[in-house]
Amino acid sequence: MKEFLNVALPKGRLGERVYTMFAQAGFPCEELLDPKRKLIFENPEAGVRYFWVKPSDVPVYVERGAADVGVAGKDILLEYEPDIYELLDLNVGKCRMCVAARSGFRDDPDKTLRVATEFPHITRAYYSARSRDIDIIRLHGSIEIAPILDMTDVIVDIVETGTTLRENDLMPIETIVPISARLIANKVSFKFKHEAIQTLSEGLRAQVAAKEAEKK
Ligand code: PRP
Repeated sequence: MKEFLNVALPKGRLGERVYTMFAQAGFPCEELLDPKRKLIFENPEAGVRYFWVKPSDVPVYVERGAADVGVAGKDILLEYEPDIYELLDLNVGKCRMCVAARSGFRDDPDKTLRVATEFPHITRAYYSARSRDIDIIRLHGSIEIAPILDMTDVIVDIVETGTTLRENDLMPIETIVPISARLIANKVSFKFKHEAIQTLSEGLRAQVAAKEAEKK
């Protein structure tokens, strides 16, 4: 019997989209899209076992070797710097990490800048490269409220369509880094399950390239 390739997928819309790419790359598992609450699915014929995990936990499963490969946003990889291999930019789940503020905001360089974010590591690195003194307020969601209540001057968060910012009277003022979903691999699995991981990443690479070619 084939050895299973263990795959951690981010639960949600991005994960479902990425799964269709994995299926096309030779690792189908139809049961996966079943709307029940099961979290682990396997297809012994294709030699694949999938599990749905919280998006920010994907690198934890991969780093620890519970998953051989997984899909994680570049934001999560930059924030936690897991010890994994980043194999491929899947060119989906595209958004950007931004600094946003209320309209009319003027930065006063003489004052410590108060920043609300779910990404303290990325935020610290960004401002420290600019020698800007900041006070980070770590939140776990609804970041947009912080400057509205004047708890902070700005936020550092993910912007996709810009709707959340607009609806809360905020605007992006700087882009820190573009974000997209990445295929990541456990370092030991990359050696010992090389063939399966290679087949998968080549299959995915071909799809990414085909989509890019379509756009031109
Ligand atoms: C992210 C981010 C913003 C929103 C931006 O939240 O924190 O709130 O998406 O998207 P938009 O520019 O298209 O409006 P997400 O939905 O990932 O959930 P979270 O708040 O739990 O991080």
